[in-house]
Amino acid sequence: MKQVILTGDRPTGRLHVGHYVGSLKERVRLQNSGKYDEIYIMIADAQALTDNAEHPEKVRQNIIQVALDYLACGLDPAKSTIFIQSMVPELTELTFYYMNLVTVSRVQRNPTVKAEIQMRNFEASIPVGFFCYPISQAADITAFHATSVPAGEDQMPMLEQCREIVHKFNAVYGETLTEPQIILPGNQACLRLPGIDGKAKMSKSLGNCIYLSDEPEEIRKKIMSMFTDPNHLRVEDPGKVEGNPVFVYLDAFCKPEYFQEFLPEYSGLDELKAHYQRGGLGDMKVKKFLNNVMQAELRPIRERRKDWEARLPEVYEILRAGCEKAEAVAAETLRGVRHAMQIDYFENGTL
Ligand code: TRP
Repeated sequence: MKQVILTGDRPTGRLHVGHYVGSLKERVRLQNSGKYDEIYIMIADAQALTDNAEHPEKVRQNIIQVALDYLACGLDPAKSTIFIQSMVPELTELTFYYMNLVTVSRVQRNPTVKAEIQMRNFEASIPVGFFCYPISQAADITAFHATSVPAGEDQMPMLEQCREIVHKFNAVYGETLTEPQIILPGNQACLRLPGIDGKAKMSKSLGNCIYLSDEPEEIRKKIMSMFTDPNHLRVEDPGKVEGNPVFVYLDAFCKPEYFQEFLPEYSGLDELKAHYQRGGLGDMKVKKFLNNVMQAELRPIRERRKDWEARLPEVYEILRAGCEKAEAVAAETLRGVRHAMQIDYFENGTL
């Protein structure tokens, strides 16, 4: 079977290091593994509009920001098709048919939808479009017959819902759609990187993100202000490493060779953690090391981003060509769907 990837992001802001370790890094690795026949990376503008209907300018501005972040991380337009969701209107039509296969109570049980409704204080005023976004996401995935969806842990309920739609569709209309699987990052710390304030999730609205495009000085300031173990007051105090953002970030970003380079008095992360736990290691020293690690990891990304920023017409062209290619593939899937549903009225001459 053909191995196909589809994944994407809402263009509501620049991408941050949580996106990077949670999904982007994995996409680039999979892209370069040579194991995939086709890779589609979607800028989900239509989905972003489901809770930003009054701010189309915000969505519009961030399309290019997200595209730059993608290219900066090493997504290669020669290997991956980068496209914009609303430029593939076939996705909307698929969504409309899939809506008939899902109940309201099933969407209400989706844990990610539940959490997001709470976060946005929607309660009784949920836009219908927002409510339906898990269904639209199933359209995004199945339109490309994706077999794999590299995404963060928060997307698991979406994938589950997509698989249910695939089963239902194939059972009712005959074998047509392909069932996808999620690919989560292998490293536990990368599953859900906390914000610099220690809150469970990095989010633009909480103002607790380190962005891929941040300048070195901004990164340093953010790391130096990071939340740590609140009970680790004096250097001599024993400290906690579990759930301590500074150590979670080290788990996510540190490579063994960084100890050689920046902190040769320790053999590795285990020794550093042990010292912190027994006391005698100050937050400042750990933060300085983390800053060196993050600067080393983010420098090549920021530099590549600047290169692409200087060539914006090429970025537009990459997106334009990507949209065209994606639409052709989605149109082919839609033809199959319409045929299975017996609504391809003028295809075989008899009505
Ligand atoms: N929901 C994803 C996000 O919040 C974006 C997205 C839309 C997506 N459709 C998708 C991700 C399909 C994976 C597969 O960023």
